Amino acid sequence: MGWRQWMYDGIYRRGARWDTGSSISTEIQEIIAGTHALPAGRALDLGCGTGAVAIYLAQHGWQTIGIDFSSVAIQEARDKANSITGLTFIQGDVTRLTNLGVQGPFDFVLDIGCFHGVPFNRRQAYVHGVVQVTRPGAIFLLWAYSSNHRFRAPGAPFMTKTEIQDRFSADFTVDILRQHDSAAEGHWEATLYALHRR
Ligand SMILES: C[S@@+](CC[C@H](N)C(=O)[O-])C[C@H]1O[C@@H](n2cnc3c(N)ncnc32)[C@H](O)[C@@H]1O
Repeated sequence: MGWRQWMYDGIYRRGARWDTGSSISTEIQEIIAGTHALPAGRALDLGCGTGAVAIYLAQHGWQTIGIDFSSVAIQEARDKANSITGLTFIQGDVTRLTNLGVQGPFDFVLDIGCFHGVPFNRRQAYVHGVVQVTRPGAIFLLWAYSSNHRFRAPGAPFMTKTEIQDRFSADFTVDILRQHDSAAEGHWEATLYALHRR
């Protein structure tokens, strides 16, 4: 097991501060259940944690796969999912979708707080995987820290808006849905992107 997995397992055992259990962002609610909701299709949650969003999607008729490399998080997600149909949780690395047997096409992909922590030498593999499994017209919702300031701690999340453009703009149009600078997060600027697959 890599040290990142080990670190996340430890965080989940102690209770991850981001793991609210059931709160779903207004943007996701809008896309899934709002007045102009997408028709239910296939969804992929990358770095799904304990599965709250994946469960929400499945409850709204989406065939959903949630992936996370933390065995602790995935166990909790499976326990919560219980008998919900159309929902699969896979323990594995989101930068190795082919190895995990994950096949597209997906209509909706989301990543809430995972990609910005992926090591630089695995980021292009992640992008390649997302491109491969999304159909033209698919939406990829991505929430990531977006400060230009690089944090010192090893593995600390880091991802600029320029990097998102550079990595994705060949295959996606990139829009910013929301940006915030959270005092609770120590003034780490974060951005919610909506990427549309060409
Ligand atoms: C900040 S948490 C967010 C979890 C969840 N999306 C949420 O909003 O509650 C980031 C998640 O990404 C997972 N993760 C990080 N790198 C990963 C990788 N390479 N493969 C799979 N999961 C990963 C972590 O285990 C963790 O659950």
